[in-house]
Amino acid sequence: MLYFGTPMKLDTQRGTLVYGVQHNLRDSVVVMPLRTGECRVGLLGLGTVGSAVAGLLLRSEHEIAHRAGLPIRLRHVAVAHPDRPRSLALPDGILTGDAAAVVDDPEVDVVVEVMGGIEPARTHILRALAAGKSVVTANKQLMSTRGEELLTASAARGVDLFFEASACAGLPVIKTIREALAANTITQVMGIVNGTTNFILTRMAEGGVGFGEALGEAQRLGFAEADPTDDVDGHDAAAKLAILASAAFDSRVVSADVYREGVASITPRIITYAREMGYVVKLLAIARSTDGAIEARVHPALLPGTHPLARVDRELNAVLIEAEPAGPIVLEGRGAGGGPTASAVVGDLIDVARNMRAGASHRIRSTGAERRPVKEMAEVVLSYCVALVVADRPGVFSQVAAAFGEERVSIASIVQKSRGVTADVVLVTHEAPEAAMRRTLARLHRLSVVTDVHAVIRIAA
Ligand SMILES: NC(=O)c1ccc[n+]([C@@H]2O[C@H](COP(=O)([O-])OP(=O)(O)OC[C@H]3O[C@@H](n4cnc5c(N)ncnc54)[C@H](OP(=O)(O)O)[C@@H]3O)[C@@H](O)[C@H]2O)c1
Repeated sequence: MLYFGTPMKLDTQRGTLVYGVQHNLRDSVVVMPLRTGECRVGLLGLGTVGSAVAGLLLRSEHEIAHRAGLPIRLRHVAVAHPDRPRSLALPDGILTGDAAAVVDDPEVDVVVEVMGGIEPARTHILRALAAGKSVVTANKQLMSTRGEELLTASAARGVDLFFEASACAGLPVIKTIREALAANTITQVMGIVNGTTNFILTRMAEGGVGFGEALGEAQRLGFAEADPTDDVDGHDAAAKLAILASAAFDSRVVSADVYREGVASITPRIITYAREMGYVVKLLAIARSTDGAIEARVHPALLPGTHPLARVDRELNAVLIEAEPAGPIVLEGRGAGGGPTASAVVGDLIDVARNMRAGASHRIRSTGAERRPVKEMAEVVLSYCVALVVADRPGVFSQVAAAFGEERVSIASIVQKSRGVTADVVLVTHEAPEAAMRRTLARLHRLSVVTDVHAVIRIAA
């Protein structure tokens, strides 16, 4: 049955006559396998995300077919261990251990990659794209490092590569940026994009508990992995920010471009001092367009209590998009977990099916046309909060102030809290280049009256 388009081409890779629509995208031919009148899916992975995707496709088959305009059917599901017992009941005969065969099967129209990791996921995706199959992926590790290669391959073949779930799972940030805000210039994306660290910081603020205790609680409740390094050290947030910055600025930002600091050094004491000054401490992922360049950084930051992201607590995520002329837009919700991630993956799949039905794939150009440099962190200009432990005696303030003054870092406020022989001094600076702040810290470390530089936290406006 022919739905749209006309028979165009003998697909030499598959050796079959397919129905498609010719596009003027360089030399590419868009192959629309609509003969069956359905969109047949090869799912790679049946873990947390894959099970939720398969469950949603099976459970909501009719609604999804109605919204997509054609049925979306699971044709194969590939896993690493096909003999492992599964809680989800799949139709007979669709589970396999051979992911490559799923990708190559001419009866698969779209490949959904939710197996994770760089290889073999990358090879499977490239092979699917080369065969004229659109791909949906949730793979942040892959998209934040090899996104350009994959997007270029999808553009060359004129098929879709959608990756909404790779940034903030259930929060539709990429679609908002690329579709709803297509008429806007985006100046900044600021987010709480890691639920584990947001849970830890929330518990430290609520309960006055230390980092280790809050992490243990997050692990008991399933909000942190047994090995939490990726989350705690900011790697997960940096990968997500690279994907969001690439989409927001139509440029190419990879994980390694993102300046990164984690939350392990945050103490209940600095959270208390921040609160006394009207701030909360959050791990922020910030991408900003400045002077023809891009700032991309993940670090703990002080946020004014009135800021829209300040009340986003526990495992929740939120992203603030500053767009012109739309103004600020906040998306808040669950940025991880099977259900929210499946929502994004199946949403992308429905988009692929709609495009196939309309013969209009690759409507959104997404190869990072702009080549904007990413700024070195030393060049970024910010305000800082610095908490020092100093000897509690006359003349100390003047030495501390001189260290700032010699580097032209101007102090906006200074508060002292006596602790007996020592005192805590909490300073807030006016805006200064990070390089100047680093030199100031080196001077402070050399002062005999400074016992400890307890915390240095950037301030986000
Ligand atoms: N979990 C989340 O909340 C979340 C949120 C956003 C994005 N993501 C992304 O989604 C992807 C999947 O995450 P997940 O949490 O679902 O992972 P997971 O639970 O570890 O599941 C991975 C699945 O891939 C299968 N697999 C692994 N290597 C394979 C191979 N070589 N061939 C075939 N199948 C293979 C595994 O098979 P077996 O079952 O047989 O071991 C398993 O079913 C990752 O890229 C992740 O970054 C996850």
